[in-house]
Amino acid sequence: MKENKLFGVVGHPIRHSLSPVMHNAVFKKLGLNYSYSAFDIEKNDLDVFLNRCREMNFLGLNVTVPHKVDIIRYLDDLDENARLINAVNTIKFEDNMLLGYNTDGLGCVRALEERGERIGGKRILILGAGGAARAIVFQCALEGAEIAISNRTMDRAMRLAREIREKLNKRVLVVNFSESSIRDIIPTTDILINATSVGMYPKIHRSPVSSDVLDPRLTVMDIVYNPIETQFLRNAKRIGCKTIDGVGMFVHQGAESLRIWLDIKPPIDLMRKVVVEKLV
Ligand SMILES: NC(=O)c1ccc[n+]([C@@H]2O[C@H](COP(=O)([O-])OP(=O)(O)OC[C@H]3O[C@@H](n4cnc5c(N)ncnc54)[C@H](OP(=O)(O)O)[C@@H]3O)[C@@H](O)[C@H]2O)c1
Repeated sequence: MKENKLFGVVGHPIRHSLSPVMHNAVFKKLGLNYSYSAFDIEKNDLDVFLNRCREMNFLGLNVTVPHKVDIIRYLDDLDENARLINAVNTIKFEDNMLLGYNTDGLGCVRALEERGERIGGKRILILGAGGAARAIVFQCALEGAEIAISNRTMDRAMRLAREIREKLNKRVLVVNFSESSIRDIIPTTDILINATSVGMYPKIHRSPVSSDVLDPRLTVMDIVYNPIETQFLRNAKRIGCKTIDGVGMFVHQGAESLRIWLDIKPPIDLMRKVVVEKLV
């Protein structure tokens, strides 16, 4: 039997996380005697928790809501993406150091690429300016997309646009979060991404925008993955758009974490299968 290695995801609450089932399936498939668990930890206990992980020789952690920013103060170093986004979803324990990464944005880009979408030069409208939207906006900007953001709280979108301009020297358009303003920009949009939490279980009949603003020319992605087919995606499919669900991003952010921890080629199809099985 090979050496046991410990992994996990830390968040609060955490009981619905699909990461343990996805990563443990990979370890089993690859014949690795590793284990991945979920840890429900409150903000004030993060420091003690990380020290305990260090003592127990953990190799990697994922970090989820609400700790992606707060955890940074306890890490020894950040990679370029995590530093830019100012949020961490992956930690690697290396030589007693805690190194922070962010694979959310790359996960989204990989999910688009896997469905034949090239990002460079595309005009992408992102709905939302929360944690996930930030990672996606930075990654798409780095990959050379033209970006517009629309968020319910306009000020948050403006701040994100300013950050992209200051850090990457790229202009980002900020669009009012109203159907009429979004409709106006759709003719010059190639990919529309919902990165808000609207439509997520249990409020599954909600959609961030109505079908009226959509156009069959668009590729429409929803990063919400519970349910897999959101109302937003159902609307888009009905009018003929190409649609991409949120499972792809979830799987690919996990796959990127596995590459960072273990330098392996993750079995994407298996990862998707186990996640979908849990969601249907
Ligand atoms: N597929 C994946 O791998 C993946 C990864 C990460 C997250 N997600 C999903 O992405 C969603 C967002 O996650 P997050 O971490 O970015 O959350 P977050 O930081 O809390 O941000 C939530 C976003 O949704 C917007 N929003 C919330 N309620 C709204 C409403 N009623 N109308 C309009 N906008 C509303 C917020 O706008 P305000 O700024 O106005 O509050 C904000 O932009 C969640 O459903 C999460 O499960 C998926």
